[in-house]
Amino acid sequence: MTAEIGTDIGRVAAFLQAGQVVGIPTETVYGLAGNALDADAVLTIFRVKNRPAFDPLIVHTDSLEKVSQFVSTIPAPARQLAQAFWPGPLTLLLPRRSVIPDLVTSGLPSVAVRIPHHPLTLALLRALPFPLAAPSANPFGYISPTTAHHVADQLGEQIPYILDGGPAQVGLESTIVGFDEQGPTVYRLGGLALDQIEAIIGPVSVRTHSTSNPAAPGMLSSHYAPRKPLILLPPGQSPPPADRVGALVFREPFGGIPADRQRVLSPGGNLNEAAKNLFAHLRALDSLPVDMLYAEPLPNQGLGFAMNDRLRRASVRE
Ligand code: TXA
Ligand code: MG
Repeated sequence: MTAEIGTDIGRVAAFLQAGQVVGIPTETVYGLAGNALDADAVLTIFRVKNRPAFDPLIVHTDSLEKVSQFVSTIPAPARQLAQAFWPGPLTLLLPRRSVIPDLVTSGLPSVAVRIPHHPLTLALLRALPFPLAAPSANPFGYISPTTAHHVADQLGEQIPYILDGGPAQVGLESTIVGFDEQGPTVYRLGGLALDQIEAIIGPVSVRTHSTSNPAAPGMLSSHYAPRKPLILLPPGQSPPPADRVGALVFREPFGGIPADRQRVLSPGGNLNEAAKNLFAHLRALDSLPVDMLYAEPLPNQGLGFAMNDRLRRASVRE
């Protein structure tokens, strides 16, 4: 099988209705989507992605009414966030109803739900009689895809179709927020910045540093990684001069490293533009004839926190 790449929503819907899995665009990253209510389709997602079954999936839909069919309650702060940011790069953890298969939540009592902001995928979701379970469309542990071609490069032999919605406009996976006795908690930093969330519901806790507990959302510590070893530099530090290295930089290239082995995230210093470029630039650097990669940390503001989080997880540590 070699995936067809196109924009035919009717064809995609037919594959999904037949229980197959396909690539879909969202504003964050591309997803590997299947019928969330069909345990066989969900199993296919895990198999294609080579993903461990303890890592649960996000359920995508197109309206708050549909969300209510999959979850038993929506706490007030969750509803406020949904109203403010859906469709958008926000995932909410909500108590699930039994219509959601165990496999989707890895047996957890909450289901992760999101309304993505992409015209093609919203049209697809409106046309389907079921929601879509969709992890990022990359092999487990690798960098998330932000174009249809990224998906084709890695999973194209295993799926029939990739819906091409152009480059992802946000470029970072959704921010994941859960609600328990202690109040709203961010479990994964992502494409919706923390200060935007706090502007709506007040202070939230952040708990994203799970190294070993897979039941805690989102965050195995070594993840999102290129194949080449990556070193995240301390702020303000330049790498030693070298030829066979690549560098990911924020505004301007480092001296001492060939210019064609460096990728600039945003010459104008715009963090949203940097986020949009992050994964594509990392992929491009990963395929250069170099032995290792350096990355410059981003300023700790706005989407900079989430980008630094991804770079930390992608980097080699002692
Ligand atoms: O932006 C995104 O969220 C993209 C697009 C395709 O929507 N999807 C995505 O999915 O990043 P994935 O599977 O790569 O990451 C989802 C994360 C996982 O790390 C998982 O642990 C967490 O969400 N998660 C999913 N369901 C959960 C649940 N019921 N409880 C806790 N964490 C959950
Ligand atoms: Mg992922």
